[in-house]
Amino acid sequence: KRLVVLVSGSGTNLQALLDAIADAGVDAYGAEVVAVGADRGAVEGLARAERAGIPTFVCRVKDFADRDEWDAALAEAVAAHEPDLVVSAGFMKIVGKEFLARFGGRFVNTHPALLPSFPGAHGVRDALAYGARVTGCTVHFVDDGVDTGPIIAQGVVEVRDEDDESALHERIKEVERRLLVEVVGRLARNGYRIEGRKVVIQ
Ligand code: GRF
Repeated sequence: KRLVVLVSGSGTNLQALLDAIADAGVDAYGAEVVAVGADRGAVEGLARAERAGIPTFVCRVKDFADRDEWDAALAEAVAAHEPDLVVSAGFMKIVGKEFLARFGGRFVNTHPALLPSFPGAHGVRDALAYGARVTGCTVHFVDDGVDTGPIIAQGVVEVRDEDDESALHERIKEVERRLLVEVVGRLARNGYRIEGRKVVIQ
């Protein structure tokens, strides 16, 4: 299967995918990363792709007249690589109608909290501020809400008394990377169907 991965930052989730695919081999893993896209230039996630010899593209909101045009351009850039699955791995933009029309049902996101708790851009900070004693990460399909799509898998992380946002986020990301690698591989190898809010991996 062909994966396009979207990033906005450090790209450690992308790296985990690249490492897992390199270790297992494309056939055994069931998928390969054919392109990496970002909504900004000069991020470490793009550099990781370049080091791995994977084509990259950048699609910046400010280069387009409005959000819909950006969304259509992003969809077009992704479609050019003919992906079976698109993975948002720390991609910090909400996609629009056009993107979802083309990739809905095969667009996977990873979020650093146990949805439906703490959606949005500050899932780690919000869980900490709320006083939650457990949090974690959620791999889910993207729908037209913010972090509201059908859940595929979740991982739990305990909050420690001494945690600040960055310490907690680092522990979440260790779980998140393993979960994402496992989930994407299973989706790619086994196939799946989405029944309402339930994701059934065959
Ligand atoms: C992840 O925790 C992701 O869930 C969040 O941002 C982080 C991205 O990390 N939205 P990286 O860029 O994969 O290192």
